Formats: sequence, structure tokens, C-alpha cells
Amino acid sequence: MRLTRYFLPVLRENPAEAQIVSHRLMLRAGMIKQNAAGIYSWLPLGFKVLRKLENIVHEEQVRAGHIPMLMPTLQSADLWRESGRYDAYGPEMLRIRDRQDRDMLYGPTNEEMITDIFRSHVGSYKDLPLTLYHIQWKFRDEMRPRFGVMRGREFFMKDGYNFDLTKEDALHAYNRHLVSYLRTYERMGLQAIPMRADSGPIGGDDTHEFLVLAETGESEVFYDSAVTDLTFGDREIDYDSVEQCAAIMEEFTTKYARTDETHDPALFDQIPEARRRTARGIEVGQIFYFGTKYSDAMGATVQGPDGKPTPVHMGSHGIGVSRLVGAIIEASHDDKGIIWPEGVTPYHCGIVNLKQGDAEADAACDALYQSLTALGLEPLYDDRDERAGGKFATMDLIGLPWRITVGPRGLKNGVVELTSRRTGDSQELPPEEAVKKIAEIYGDMHSSEHVQMMGTRSFHTYI
Ligand SMILES: Nc1ncnc2c1ncn2[C@@H]1O[C@H](COP(=O)(O)OP(=O)(O)OP(=O)(O)O)[C@@H](O)[C@H]1O
Ligand SMILES: [Mg+2]
Repeated sequence: MRLTRYFLPVLRENPAEAQIVSHRLMLRAGMIKQNAAGIYSWLPLGFKVLRKLENIVHEEQVRAGHIPMLMPTLQSADLWRESGRYDAYGPEMLRIRDRQDRDMLYGPTNEEMITDIFRSHVGSYKDLPLTLYHIQWKFRDEMRPRFGVMRGREFFMKDGYNFDLTKEDALHAYNRHLVSYLRTYERMGLQAIPMRADSGPIGGDDTHEFLVLAETGESEVFYDSAVTDLTFGDREIDYDSVEQCAAIMEEFTTKYARTDETHDPALFDQIPEARRRTARGIEVGQIFYFGTKYSDAMGATVQGPDGKPTPVHMGSHGIGVSRLVGAIIEASHDDKGIIWPEGVTPYHCGIVNLKQGDAEADAACDALYQSLTALGLEPLYDDRDERAGGKFATMDLIGLPWRITVGPRGLKNGVVELTSRRTGDSQELPPEEAVKKIAEIYGDMHSSEHVQMMGTRSFHTYI
């Protein structure tokens, strides 16, 4: 993309309404525009990041054996009356009446709808296990929408639902989700710590929230500092293996890590004092096992091996995809702007032309642009007729992890400058070397992991 042809409405001034850094930077970098309280348009740069996160979520869900589908945003109230949640959900649910006077609602979540789909089509235990998920807009009429996309009213969420014959099978599904979520957040450059949590209106006993530590987080959290040493890394996992998933569950959830809702001071005090931490965190996901709560209420049974109708064991599992855009920025920025982790960056690198209109500089930039594009990389070329300071400020604000700077002086010596956004370190090298370096940073061209990182294989491939 060339900046002269793009739509990147950056703001020079700090918007007064933004209280936290991610909200401020998303507005300043031209990623979002508010339409009403807690409701945003995703402008091109923000949309690109949102799609990258969505893609990672899809890839990791499909890898875990979960099946993508799509349910509507608008739902009929009837199903919610069956589960008893139409009245229980309260004023957070946006209720709508259609022209036939039928009660509708903008879905805050989809347990009822998926249970209805399941009971309509699945009749035998032989069709289990089954996990279906979708990534769709939700609406919750939050009392205090704030912090930009972090607590919106309309927000984008992945929600998945497992259907199993037994509690043991459903707990395996729970563990499988935990593993897939660990992978998902790490690919986004985040550490999200699973913490024992409270189940709220979804119901059930077993639940963990995933929290990204950040001063601006809305949740108070208590943990053993040893949990922050745990990383999933690039280990291979067989998602069908009950033992492997259970072992990872145990590894990541045995050390003390809880939100204020489940915090137990007596247990906390048993951790060596030097490792006790109290901090704040952003909830970026949650997994639940809730047994037969919905299948009992809505008659979702299968014929068991003994021929008798058996209510299925279920769980639901959510990732806050739009909130994650803000959470990543909270975790990765400096005073100049955003610093995107390589796995989610909207463009792989920036190209800054220090002397637009200079025949040699223009030609060198065009050549770089073409070489990078030919390798499947997406550069953002600042080809505006602007002074260098303004171009650098824009690049720093929008946070591409790598920048190639091209000017007549360097070109005389056959070099361009490659700069890391994170460290600020620069090196001079021939243009071909800069391209090679960037290709290396984004991985080995032939590995499938690389193709995923490049974002050239979109989730559509999987569906
Ligand atoms: N208002 C919101 N704006 C943006 N993301 C949200 C919002 N509410 C929930 N999410 C995201 O969706 C994920 C799954 O939804 P869940 O039902 O667990 O939310 P929740 O526990 O009600 O969230 P919270 O406690 O923050 O209100 C959450 O972990 C969070 O990342
Ligand atoms: Mg939650």
C-alpha cells in the first residue's frame, strides 16, 4: 500500500475523551472512529489488525479440531425464555421488537441458539464429541462503555461451544480450549495468564479467565510470580490426547493465579512472600464448563450407548477479539506510539522515502516495494511529499515493527537504513540485504507457520 492512496486519518492532538493509552493511540493512528457510546467504525488500519487477530483465532481453533460456522447477531427472544435467561440477563441485553411485534434481541452470547441448533440435528452419542464456534459481533448494553474498544457495547468475540457425552469428555474439551488459547495469545505477542474466575451469568463451576497484565486493566488479580515464567512456545501438541491437554492444564493452572472474585487470602499467603503479586489485568478470554445447565433446560439430549436419552455436557469458550486490539497496544507501546508484535502488525514494514520526487530515491523505493511484495510481504510505503520528521512520526505512531528509510545520501553509498521500531536500532545495508532480513524476520519462506504469519493464507482457506 502507498500512503498517498490509503485512508489513514491520523490525529496530531491527543483526543480529550481517551483516558487510556490504547484508546488514545487507536484514535490518533486513525484505526477507529466512535459512532455512539461504545460503538465504533473500524477504519482501514484498525480493520486490518482486527482481521489478523480473527485469522489467528480461526487458525488455532481449527488446529484444535473445532468447527467454524456463523450465527446471526439478531436472535428471537423465544429461545432465551426457554433457558430462563430472557428475564435473568437484565438491562445489558438490547431488546428489540420487530414489525410483527415479536420480541428480538441483539445477541450478547449464543448458548441458547447453538443448543437449539444442536438439539435439532444431533441425536446420537456417536456424533460426539462436537465443538462448534463462530466469530461474530455481540452487543451488551454496558453501564459504562469506556476505554475505546476495550469495553465497547458492540464488540467482536469468538465464542465456541462443546457438546460431549460425559463430564470427562467435556473437561477434555475445556483443557483443549485452554491449550488453544495459550497458543492464540502467544502468537499475538501476548502473555495471557489463565486465572481461576467466577462464572457470572453463564453459570457453572469450572471457569478460567485469561488476563493480560496491565496497569489499566479493570480486574484486580493476585498471583504467584512464577506463573509469568510459563510459556507455551512452539511445542507440538496432540489435541486428541487427553493426557497431553490435561498436563498443560495442570502446568498452567496449578500455581496461584486468581481474580478478585475468587481470591483466597489464606491460600495466597502460603506462597513465599517474594513471589506474591497483586496487580491489574485485562480479561481477554474465558472458558467455562457448565455441565447440563442448558441441555437440561432446553432438552438437548442424545441417545446414549444404553439407548436412553442423555443430556449432553457442555461448555462455552470466548475470546474478546476486538478488545485484544486494545490489550495488545496496552502491552506494547512507547511515548511515540504503538509497537505491533510481528504476528499481528497491519503491514510488515514501512518504507520511508526521504526525498520524494528524487528520481533515484523514488526508483529505489519502488524496487524495495516490489521485492517485498513478491515475497508475500505487505509494505506500507510513505510516498507523500512531506518532510522526514513528519514521516517518521507517522511511522512511529502506527507502530510497524520495521522501517526501511531511503534517501539520496545513503543510495550514493549503495545503502538504505533498516530500523527496529521496538529498540530504535538502525543498520545501514544494501536494499537487497534489507529485504532479505525482513523476509528472515517473518520466518522461513517455505514453512507453513511462515505463510500464516505473513497473513497470506487467510482463514477462508480453512472454512
Ligand atoms: N463490553 C465488552 N467489550 C469488549 N470486549 C468484551 C466486552 N465484554 C466481554 N468482552 C470480551 O469477550 C470475552 C468473552 O466474554 P465473557 O462473557 O466472558 O465476558 P465478561 O466476563 O462479561 O467480560 P467482562 O467481565 O469484562 O464484562 C471476554 O473475556 C472479553 O475479552
Ligand atoms: Mg468473562
